Amino acid sequence: MSILEILVWPDKRLEIEATPIAEVTAEVRQLGTDLIETMYAAQGIGLAATQVDRHIRMIAVDLNGGEPEDRDPALGPYVMINPQITEREGTIVFEEGCLSVPGETGEVERSAWIAVDFTGPDGTEYQMEAEGLLSVCIQHEIDHLDGIVFPERLKSHERARIRRAMRQYKPA
Ligand code: NI
Repeated sequence: MSILEILVWPDKRLEIEATPIAEVTAEVRQLGTDLIETMYAAQGIGLAATQVDRHIRMIAVDLNGGEPEDRDPALGPYVMINPQITEREGTIVFEEGCLSVPGETGEVERSAWIAVDFTGPDGTEYQMEAEGLLSVCIQHEIDHLDGIVFPERLKSHERARIRRAMRQYKPA
């Protein structure tokens, strides 16, 4: 297992569109494990392969925070390979952050409810429905696979503000 380096927006590599994963190999499973570990180390709730400069369609999501005994398996952890939204309904506005945009947030409008198909690290195909924060998080991570980071979904002046803030950003 290893903790991977997370790209910081507006790094151009975050704009690369990820390619579908043809086969769940040991290497693919390893990346899933590393994504989860990297996400936990950074105290995030979602991470896409794109953010660690691997341009294949895989995301990790875990909304569980806090103590291990409070963990709700419905909230994760999930490793989703080739996630695809098949249905969506309603709208929700949520103040989003991103491990690739450290310290900044912005209000993004997304679908309130989604149905998503994906393959698990075990090679099984899953269908899932999500609403609220889980729905937002999955849509945010799939955006990464399409080369979209949340500031791109904000009004120009907000995007410009975050761009200025990122110029000052120094990794810890
Ligand atoms: Ni993100």
